[in-house]
Formats: sequence, structure tokens, C-alpha cells
Amino acid sequence: MLQGQSFTGALQSRGVDRRRFIKFCSAMVATLALPPRYVAQVASALEKAKKPVLVWLQFQDCAGNSESMLRSSHPTVAEAVLDLLSWEYHELVMAGAGHQAEAALERVVREEKGKFIAVVEGAIPLADGGVYCTVAGKTALEIARHVCSNAAATIAAGACAWDGGLVRANPNPTGAVGIEEAVPQAKVINLGGCPQNPANTAAVLVHYLTFGELPAVDQYNRPLFAYGRIIHDQCERRAHYDAGRFTQEWGDEGHRKGWCLYKMGCKGPQATFNCPSARWNDGTSWPVKAGHGCLGCASHRFWDTRSPFYERLPDVPGFGVDVTAGQIGLGVTAAVAAGTVVHGIASAVRDRMRTRAAIQPSPAKPKAKE
Ligand code: SF4
Ligand code: F3S
Repeated sequence: MLQGQSFTGALQSRGVDRRRFIKFCSAMVATLALPPRYVAQVASALEKAKKPVLVWLQFQDCAGNSESMLRSSHPTVAEAVLDLLSWEYHELVMAGAGHQAEAALERVVREEKGKFIAVVEGAIPLADGGVYCTVAGKTALEIARHVCSNAAATIAAGACAWDGGLVRANPNPTGAVGIEEAVPQAKVINLGGCPQNPANTAAVLVHYLTFGELPAVDQYNRPLFAYGRIIHDQCERRAHYDAGRFTQEWGDEGHRKGWCLYKMGCKGPQATFNCPSARWNDGTSWPVKAGHGCLGCASHRFWDTRSPFYERLPDVPGFGVDVTAGQIGLGVTAAVAAGTVVHGIASAVRDRMRTRAAIQPSPAKPKAKE
């Protein structure tokens, strides 16, 4: 984007007309779980927004989050976000190198102090003085402290930047941690996932530019709009789970028919993320739709807490479906029958609880004077 050029003008010069811009705004509003009436507000805010400067740091990583961001095609996410921001430093894509690149980063920290956005990809090693990851002779920890503590906000992109991810998995030989733990004074929003979903990263930036603040977060500082719902509750295979129709092995009839992947190790019942709605590859698909169980890649320390990935979860909360699933194996018919019985009992228990709640007077509520 040229200096002085409007955001929409910049998009137009890339062949993105107003219709597609509004479509992008609508997608962002939907991702942020806002009502459609916010589309106009978001569009107007983005048109007027003063471009914030962004620096993207990479430490112990595989570059998967950068790839995820940059490979989103048609140009809605990548192009729009690139044009929304003044992208001053990103090792994977910047033209500059060596001293020139380091000078660009230093200039941002000095001149944009407290105003720029930092994105961190990858974990930060603390063992042995941080020698396991150095850039331009400085440890990742030194760079992260210097940059992130001077940023207006830091986005931890992906599992490794959030909680150490794969690098921190047991036995964690490099003493790797996420950015929040490495630089506690930084204002961090965590986008877990392996990788993060570019639609969510864009939505966080759009929220920041529209409302001047980061979106509401959960106990892990992850945005609620993306991590507030259990995957199992949004899954298109859920009806099969409820009916007791499970894939028993890869490629069997149930797998070919799109039945539930719980018995193949799907962690959807204990994982939160918006994959079923945001999806991947420009909204084409997501792991469960593609026929693979969810690994729970957006769960805290998932490499340790969600593995073995192909073993089914032992305790799935719900009305006894875990018991039903355990009993399945003799045949789908028996499973469906068991599922129906369990659901019958579950419904009865649920109804009784509802009835009890309905008939019990609330002790806290004082009686209104007549
Ligand atoms: Fe979907 Fe997995 Fe839940 Fe089955 S267990 S309904 S595949 S999220
Ligand atoms: Fe990750 Fe599960 Fe989504 S593995 S990409 S959270 S479906």
C-alpha cells in the first residue's frame, strides 16, 4: 500500500473491488461472531483506519503459521491484512536481510514504541542461556523481551508461541516456553492451533482496528469468538455420534459414509476451536470433514495432553454416550439400540432435572410486594 493511499484504493489496485471488500468485512463480522449489522461499521472503520505497523518474529518454529497466513488465496485474508497493516519485518518474506533487516526492526521498536503490533511465531528456549535459538547474535528471549514489551499488543500465532507447542513437548530439551511465559509484561493474545487459522488472525486485527481494542478472551487469553465453543457441538458428524454410528477403522464402511470419528481418537468432545465454521483453505474443509479426527491442536499443551492421538478419549462428558461407544463393537445395530436406550435414560434424567429446577422456588429472589 502506497503512503497516503486509502485501504480500499490499495485493494482496488490489487483487483479487489468494493463488492469483494464488503464480502471480506462480512466474513470478518461472521468470524468475530458479531451480528450482521456490524458490517457497515467494520467497513467504515477499515476505510478510515490509520495503518498500524506490524512486525512478525519467528523463533523455534516450522513457519507453518506464516505459510497458513500467506497461502490463503483469493485475496480476501492475506491481501486485505497485508494492506491493512504496514508490515515492516517478517523474516520469511521480507526482501531485506542481515543488518538492513535488523535495523528495520530496531527502527520500529524505537519510533513506534507502544503503537506497533508484534506477531510471534514459535517457542522461546530458556535452557542454557537461550542458546538454542539466536537471530543476529541475540537470543530469542532477548529479542522477544525487547520487541514485545514495547509493542501495543502481541499476537501469539500458533501453538508454539502460545504455550511452547511441539518444541515444549516432553522432555522439552531446550526449555521452550510460549511468549506469555517468556515476557510476562507483554500484552498478549493467544491464537492456539497448529497452525493458527488466518481468518482468526485477520479477525483479531480487524477487531483492533474497528474498536481500538483486542477482543474478549478466555482464561488462556484466547479470543472467545474463536475458542468459546466445543468442536463436538459444532461438528457435522455429531448426528452420527448421537446415533451411535462410529467409524471403527480407517476406510471401513462407516468411514466412507462420514460417520463419527470418536473411536478413531477424535478429540472434538474436549477441544474448543471454530474450525467447523471458519474452516481452512478458504473455507473449503477442516480435519473432521476431510475424514480425520480432531487432534485438539488448539488445546493447551496439546502434544502432551491430547496424545496418543489415535486413542479414543476415555471420559466424554454427556449423557452416557461414552458408555454406549464402549459397548459398540458387536455391530452397529446393537450400538444404535444401546444409544437409543441411553438417550432415553438421559432424556428422562434431563427432564427430571429440568422439572425439579422449574418447581423449586429460588431462595435468593425476594417476593415482589403487591
Ligand atoms: Fe465430530 Fe469428533 Fe464429535 Fe464425532 S467425536 S461428532 S467426529 S467432533
Ligand atoms: Fe486442530 Fe482439531 Fe481444528 S486438530 S485444526 S482443532 S479440527
